[in-house]
Amino acid sequence: MSALATLSADAAAGAASQLAALRPSEYTAALIQVLRARAAAVRGRRALEIGSGSGVVLAALGGLGAAGLCGVDIEGTAVAAGALLLHRLGYGDRLEMHRGDMWQPLAGRRFDLVAANLPQFPMDALPYGGRLPSWSSGGADGRRLLDRLLNGLAAHLAPGGRAVLTHNAFIDLELTREIVARDGLSLRIAMSVLVNLGDEKLDLMSRQILIAEEGRSIQRYGPYALAEMHVVEIGADLG
Ligand SMILES: C[S@@+](CC[C@H](N)C(=O)[O-])C[C@H]1O[C@@H](n2cnc3c(N)ncnc32)[C@H](O)[C@@H]1O
Repeated sequence: MSALATLSADAAAGAASQLAALRPSEYTAALIQVLRARAAAVRGRRALEIGSGSGVVLAALGGLGAAGLCGVDIEGTAVAAGALLLHRLGYGDRLEMHRGDMWQPLAGRRFDLVAANLPQFPMDALPYGGRLPSWSSGGADGRRLLDRLLNGLAAHLAPGGRAVLTHNAFIDLELTREIVARDGLSLRIAMSVLVNLGDEKLDLMSRQILIAEEGRSIQRYGPYALAEMHVVEIGADLG
């Protein structure tokens, strides 16, 4: 159901109180930076974000001139907060928001651009850092949401369409490459950055992945840990 039809004053007030839990992360910032560097591929296109959270990625896509903005999130508070933000910024005329699970609200639909910063931290679903349990948890291997997105991607990309996704280096980029190749898609890394892994997050991280990745995609400097994260592009003809 469209959130626009159901957004009441109470829901809007409730959404405002959730802003702290929905604050954009450094992952989202990196995703927006890559999208901004591809402004020509956004202008006039139908854009989708799966896991739209605060709505800030959709807002950036609106600012870059996307012709259509579609957001999907499993959390009602995120859908309401995203709709509120996009309306306030003047993008309501091209906005469509859905509360739902991944591709479920989008049967039979295709988009020119699919953006996502999915929960992909290898840990059980627990609240952490003032976030909802659904914000970060990617299950034991971190891939619970990502694999579902990848398996549905080809069916939802328009001809010539692209996906731009955040991807932790420690959840097997080569597996992602293999999965999309089965559908005739290829992957390239658009950007790599190091992100902070705080103590709280390290304590929750699947031990097997932490042990395997220390010294590889995870670097420790005394009490500090930094992990590599990529923003990747996926499409049929990346040129
Ligand atoms: C890491 S957050 C990123 C949000 C957004 N990019 C931002 O910065 O505000 C991941 C988002 O995915 C949503 N999510 C989790 N599971 C989902 C699912 N099965 N289907 C759709 N969205 C989901 C969460 O509610 C959350 O808003």
